Amino acid sequence: MSKGESSPNTRLELSKEEMRSLGYRVIDLLVEHTSTLSEQTVSRVGSREAMEASIHQPLPIDGEDPVGLLDFLSEQVFHHSMVTNHPRFFAFVPSPSNFVSVMADTLISGYNSILAEWAEASGPATLELNTVDWLRELCGMPADAGGIFVSGGSAANLTALAVAREVVLQNRIEGARVYCSEQTHASNRKALKVLGFSTEQVVGIALDHDWRIDCDALLKQIQEDRRSGWIPFCIIGNAGTTSTGAVDPIARLHEISRSEKLWLHVDGAYGAAAVITERGAEALRDLAHVDSLAIDPHKWLFQPFEIGCVLIRNSQHLTDTFGQDHIYLRDVTGDPLAGEVNLCDAGIQLTRNFRALKLWLSLKTFGLDSFRSAMDYTLDLATTAQQMLAARDNVEICTPARLAILTFRFIPSGWTETDLNALNLSIVQWMIKDGRAMLSSTQLGEKVVLRLCTINPRTTEADLEFTVDLLSQAADTLIKEHANRDDSSRG
Ligand SMILES: Cc1ncc(COP(=O)(O)O)c(C=O)c1O
Repeated sequence: MSKGESSPNTRLELSKEEMRSLGYRVIDLLVEHTSTLSEQTVSRVGSREAMEASIHQPLPIDGEDPVGLLDFLSEQVFHHSMVTNHPRFFAFVPSPSNFVSVMADTLISGYNSILAEWAEASGPATLELNTVDWLRELCGMPADAGGIFVSGGSAANLTALAVAREVVLQNRIEGARVYCSEQTHASNRKALKVLGFSTEQVVGIALDHDWRIDCDALLKQIQEDRRSGWIPFCIIGNAGTTSTGAVDPIARLHEISRSEKLWLHVDGAYGAAAVITERGAEALRDLAHVDSLAIDPHKWLFQPFEIGCVLIRNSQHLTDTFGQDHIYLRDVTGDPLAGEVNLCDAGIQLTRNFRALKLWLSLKTFGLDSFRSAMDYTLDLATTAQQMLAARDNVEICTPARLAILTFRFIPSGWTETDLNALNLSIVQWMIKDGRAMLSSTQLGEKVVLRLCTINPRTTEADLEFTVDLLSQAADTLIKEHANRDDSSRG
């Protein structure tokens, strides 16, 4: 494949045999990786120095055989990466993914469709509209709601809040205020910053005892702000907070948003997907009424990165916000009167790939019932983990299993809160170093807590048991070290 110094590969082409041998090798690598996940180390972190030493290379002037480069990539590069679809990766929001969607990602790049103006990809655009409509239907939103796929939850929140700014404020943001709970994901504040809002225009509302937004405090704040001359314009609710899986009281938020004439955006990037299960539908039925919703297939709908989705109650608002005249694209612009949709006018990106395909192909392959049962299983995993942990010494369950998220901490008796916080943070570092299972910490008020997010349907009870044993081992080791330090400082 390298033509040597004297003969550059001017067409940047491989022969059919070369394409096949590279493709087969890539597939073999992925099949091996995917089928041996549970035997692998979950977290592998290299120091910058070590990574530079093994990875950094000079700019390549001559080419070389890509098959030969695959070994380097798998051994040096991919190897130093947390395995987010590992059955014992419980940190942050895992991405369980699935192999069908991985293959769809290959098709997406291979065909390289651009879903911008209608005539550029009328087939892929129709399939995207169809797939978005499945999500709309699952969330119970009305038929004239619509949306688009974006890179993830951050982009979905940004898109929705840009629409809110356009529709409610006609982009005149001075004096306007947005309300969210203190547990709202940081991507919303980041989006508001990008949209020009200052920090004092984003008001964090207190939480109730269940880590949900306190609606009475919210209403009081909105009314006080109005009296003081602020212009309240938007409430951001949560459908599954990242830290505890809490779902804000969406029905009450909807009531407040209607009476106060505010936009209601719900960040369901993590939790909204649970609407496909009976239990989730019960907790999330009021999503049907929101003005905009973020829902992330690359989290709990088992897709590889990157695919998020934004749904807008009145889909016309998307084009009102983002529609532009692209004079240089007029040859391929679709006719809205003929129902032809130019998806670049429904969001921020012009060049958009066909990310919808991965959700479509995996849903068609496995069927919604399989997704539902996978998700039900993962909801049960969190409850099982809770039971296992509650049976251990020195463990306090801080928030119960909720939308597959559980928080807890180790509380050896006689320790100060400061020492407990340090201990629980150290447990995560111990686990990262050990590498056989991975969880993360979060902060609930003054408390550092440990957090398990159990959304991988390939996690077994044995994986949970193993992880809980490992955590106990970490805690025992660190508690002993602490006692030894105390003894030596005394003596
Ligand atoms: C509730 C919530 N919103 C938004 C995001 C941001 O999503 P992304 O990382 O896909 O941009 C996350 C990420 O975990 C999340 O949990």
